[in-house]
Amino acid sequence: MTGRLAGKRIIITGAVSNIGKEAVKAFVAEDAKVVIGDRDEAGAATAREFGAAAHFIKVDVTSEESVRNLIEQGVAWLGGLDVLCQNAGLQHSGAVTEFEAAKWDALFNVNARAHFFGAKYAVPHLRKGKTGSIINTASLAGKRGGSGMTAYSASKGAVIAFTTALAMELAPDNIRVNAICPGWVDTAFNQPAINFMGGTAQQAKVVAAVVPLGRQAVSSEIAPMFVYLASDESSYMTAQAITIDGGVYNS
Ligand SMILES: NC(=O)c1ccc[n+]([C@@H]2O[C@H](COP(=O)([O-])OP(=O)(O)OC[C@H]3O[C@@H](n4cnc5c(N)ncnc54)[C@H](O)[C@@H]3O)[C@@H](O)[C@H]2O)c1
Repeated sequence: MTGRLAGKRIIITGAVSNIGKEAVKAFVAEDAKVVIGDRDEAGAATAREFGAAAHFIKVDVTSEESVRNLIEQGVAWLGGLDVLCQNAGLQHSGAVTEFEAAKWDALFNVNARAHFFGAKYAVPHLRKGKTGSIINTASLAGKRGGSGMTAYSASKGAVIAFTTALAMELAPDNIRVNAICPGWVDTAFNQPAINFMGGTAQQAKVVAAVVPLGRQAVSSEIAPMFVYLASDESSYMTAQAITIDGGVYNS
């Protein structure tokens, strides 16, 4: 099936590679137009892979002015806005007794505060349509944390709380707000956690022991949920934090 997102205009942050890039690939396959916002200028090459369907705008999501610019420039390129995906993320890991306040702040600035900036500037544009969807990337860690992950888990838990509160606020406008909570996904993003656990072999043992499906996800296994939440197929779904974790959360 294609064309599930025909006419949809989407801005996604953190989409140069991995989970975000797979989401863009899935969006474009369903005929959406997509603006990729990232601080990494490699996003320009990523956008070119999708031809006329995608466009790159450099953004630092920790800066309110930069996010405002992303939304304004993105809306200008797209001709409006139907979906905002906030996928940019940062990970630091470490024991709570050793953890630096600067790292705590950096995690909250990227993983949590940026979602407020995105919503603040995107909502006026989303309100112009009959429907709208905001998709925030949280994490299984935001529901059930692990050792060495106190700050990251707290920042992702904040995203889930923000998502449900915003869903209440925007429901009268028929703007839906949901979060996606991946478990272990096989990307270099997790290197800080892997280091804290004692290396790749140790992580593999943990994954085998705690994930009922016995393995990590690959990024393309998260992408279908982005398409579903961006599409009108999810028209009655809001205020949800959807876990895609191979069964960990309910094990
Ligand atoms: N990999 C996992 O196991 C996993 C699990 C749960 C949730 N997540 C979340 O999924 C999202 C994507 O992770 P990924 O594994 O694809 O890693 P990734 O490193 O490919 O994606 C993170 C992206 O965010 C961008 N980014 C970071 N700081 C930024 C800033 N200040 N301004 C703009 N862009 C910035 C990076 O350049 C990168 O493109 C993140 O939000 C992450 O927390 C990942």
